[in-house]
Amino acid sequence: MVEIEVCVGSSCFLRGSEEVVKAFQQLIEDKCPGKAVLKGSFCMGQCTAGVTIKIQGRQFSCVTPEDVPALFEEHILPYIGG
Ligand code: FES
Repeated sequence: MVEIEVCVGSSCFLRGSEEVVKAFQQLIEDKCPGKAVLKGSFCMGQCTAGVTIKIQGRQFSCVTPEDVPALFEEHILPYIGG
C-alpha cells in the first residue's frame, strides 16, 4: 500500500491542497483502487513552497494538480507494480 500524505495546513490549503487531493483521488480510483491510501497531514514546515506532499515519506513541494499525473507515474505506479 502506497501512502500519500497531502498537507492540509492553512498555507497549503490556501494554495490549493484540496485540488491536489482530488487529483490523486481520481487517479487512485482509475488506476489502482485500494492500492494507495491518501491522508491529510498537518503542516510539513514548507509553507512558503506551495502545496507540500509526501509519497512513501519522500517530500515534494510546490505541487499543483497538473503535477499529480507525473508524480503518480513516477513515484506511485512503480511501487504497486502498475
Ligand atoms: S501548511 Fe503545508 S507545509 Fe506548512
